[in-house]
Amino acid sequence: MKQIPTSLLTLLAGIGITLISLWVSQNHHLLPVQASEQAPWVDDFFSLMVGIGTALFIVVQGAILYFTIRYRKRDGDETDGVPIEGNFALEILWTAIPSVIVIGLGIYSVDVYEQMGGIASGSAMAHVHSAQTHAQHPMNAAIAAPLLADATTEISEAPKTSIPTYGLTTVDSNALIVNVTAMQYAWLFDYPLQEILPGELHVPLGQKVLLNLKAQDVIHSFWVPQFRIKQDVIPGEQTQLQFVATKLGEYPIVCTELCGAYHGGMRSNIIVHTPEDFEKWVQETKVAQVAESQNTIARSDADFLAPYTKDLGITADTLAQLHS
Ligand code: CUA
Repeated sequence: MKQIPTSLLTLLAGIGITLISLWVSQNHHLLPVQASEQAPWVDDFFSLMVGIGTALFIVVQGAILYFTIRYRKRDGDETDGVPIEGNFALEILWTAIPSVIVIGLGIYSVDVYEQMGGIASGSAMAHVHSAQTHAQHPMNAAIAAPLLADATTEISEAPKTSIPTYGLTTVDSNALIVNVTAMQYAWLFDYPLQEILPGELHVPLGQKVLLNLKAQDVIHSFWVPQFRIKQDVIPGEQTQLQFVATKLGEYPIVCTELCGAYHGGMRSNIIVHTPEDFEKWVQETKVAQVAESQNTIARSDADFLAPYTKDLGITADTLAQLHS
């Protein structure tokens, strides 16, 4: 049998590994559905890393496997291994390749980050807050009034210094602004321009949304896996997130910073509506909010708790028994 030249075998192996890695990078199915404009940017970067990882895995594991079999100790072979010590060219090569890969990925990741809004080093924040609207919502007012009152004064009185903030460098002036407050263990949403305080985050499809995030107590982290956005929420330091929803539906908001005993339960939802449905929802929420604030005093505990106890499987009958 004629010997195939090593260089040709190496080339074929290289082509094979490249093809396999490309296929794996496009078909790994490791990520949830893409529901925002930002998602594909993050996913392309992630898929590239998966591709590189696959190639490295095949090369390293393949070499181990090949050498284990090819140079195994055969029967009757009592000789020592060949004394090989160092290979300067090889060392240069295996330092250079990872360096290029790591620097390249670093530059690419910064590029993706910049595309997503980047990070500002000044206090160029498009922040609108409304202390009164918080108080209008009976539920939020009951839970968070003292905390929010403290925080809002603190922020509005803070002098405009050049302390670095985690605001975005590029903010869309047409963006829907939502102020998000994180506290142990809940997310509060405040739409300053619409003057509503819903229990969940509702956004219109295809419009830029700007979140101003602040924390009342400890560090939390705002994460929407399907949107590929995640941002720490830090006490005494505002952070921001910007995104465009591209898929109708309901997606989870997860706190992904260990923030206390009930960290695991600190979840909410983001609901993506069509622009028309979103407007309808804003109007309905406004009406409901006014009605609710007028009814609070007249309502019984059971009525007030009904929307929350429903999820816990507690019925009106159970509540009635408790009271009697
Ligand atoms: Cu908030 Cu974990």
